[in-house]
Amino acid sequence: MQQPEYQDAEELAGVLRELRRLPPLVSSWEVLLLRQQLAEAAAGRAFVLQGGDCAERFIYCTPERIANTLKVLLQMSLVLVVGAQRPVIRIGRFAGQYAKPRSADTERRGGVELPSYRGDNVNRPEFTAEARRPDPQLLLRGHERAALTLNFIRSLVKGGFADLHHPEYFDLDWVDYSPLRDEYRRMVDTIGEALRFMENVLGVRAGETGRIDFFTAHEALHLAYEEAQTRCAPRGSFEGKGWFNLAAHFPWVGLRTNHPEGAHIEYLRGIENPIGVKIGVEGTGDEVARWIDTLDPQRTPGRLTFIHRFGAKRIAETLPRAIEQAQAAGSTALWVCDPMHGNTKMTSGGVKTRHFADIYAEVEQAFDIHRAMGQQLGGVHIELTGENVTECIGGAGGPTEEDLARAYESEVDPRLNHEQALELAFLIARKMKAAGE
Ligand code: PEP
Ligand code: CO
Repeated sequence: MQQPEYQDAEELAGVLRELRRLPPLVSSWEVLLLRQQLAEAAAGRAFVLQGGDCAERFIYCTPERIANTLKVLLQMSLVLVVGAQRPVIRIGRFAGQYAKPRSADTERRGGVELPSYRGDNVNRPEFTAEARRPDPQLLLRGHERAALTLNFIRSLVKGGFADLHHPEYFDLDWVDYSPLRDEYRRMVDTIGEALRFMENVLGVRAGETGRIDFFTAHEALHLAYEEAQTRCAPRGSFEGKGWFNLAAHFPWVGLRTNHPEGAHIEYLRGIENPIGVKIGVEGTGDEVARWIDTLDPQRTPGRLTFIHRFGAKRIAETLPRAIEQAQAAGSTALWVCDPMHGNTKMTSGGVKTRHFADIYAEVEQAFDIHRAMGQQLGGVHIELTGENVTECIGGAGGPTEEDLARAYESEVDPRLNHEQALELAFLIARKMKAAGE
């Protein structure tokens, strides 16, 4: 399901051959490191922050954009560390989030009907026949853009951009004008003090502990592309080897392709990466047990993550059913809340948006429901950007419905801007602290 229809099968085959020959983006030992860390999160000893664009764009593969996304994720994770009192695992929806599922195969404007935009790996958003034609060459451009993005991220992180001793490196200018400024500064000071305490009193050099890792994730939607990036690599579970998707550390399957007997689940079954499965309101019957049996027959902590996205209005009725199913199946899965995709609304003017209040309301309920059922929410999955966009409504200084036109640039789903994202992190940190999570 959700696969583009290419006109030239030979051209596609040629592109896939070339993709298979190119170096991968990540290595199997990094993938297994994330898997271990996710096992820690599943056991309640770490917390996951997964975030980034709904759909990355090739045109936005620029140093400023990449650095800003990294900054907002870092700042959020600092705040979450303080609230959660445990390590935060940072996973970007970046370096390959270029393929999008769509609810309709075609889009009609006026009398004209064209294929839907399916992400920059497939076609282009402009409403012309030429732009909307699925072009296999874009898969190569996507792989290259993903490599450029990841290369810059690795270089920034290695160069000390993410050094916890220097939180001033990742300050965003706006913090000085934000109503959250003082609270944010206090949290940064707390982190500085904790580092000094460790180094001076405990004698631990925080060089290692102060260093920050970023992992990458995207929706494993375009099966031919994902297969071409799947390699037999060392350190797997079969005679020291195994099959890994080396285009991302953490591929996930989206709501529209998550059928337990579907091709996407069949693909994920065969790789050793940690994998995510999105769950929506329709997926809380016996699907949960079927996903567990298919994808995680050994019940290995770190292997399987459920990313639930029910919406603030539906989560109270649906999440407990999903958890019951999983518990009955003896699951050790990690649970992450995506408070974005169940809360998408249309304004009266036909603009796709989300309300900050709904987003936080869903996360808050998620914490309470997991706790009431004897387990823990292990992370959050957020669509956000480091840019000052106006796509979601609300938050302390956030846009109103009238403001949406000012800086709305997403081609797919509305994202939190940097200020809204940080405010959400504050609220989540407070909630975790208050609950002693
Ligand atoms: C997404 O994560 O952008 C997405 C399409 O989500 P879902 O599959 O949960 O609808
Ligand atoms: Co989205």
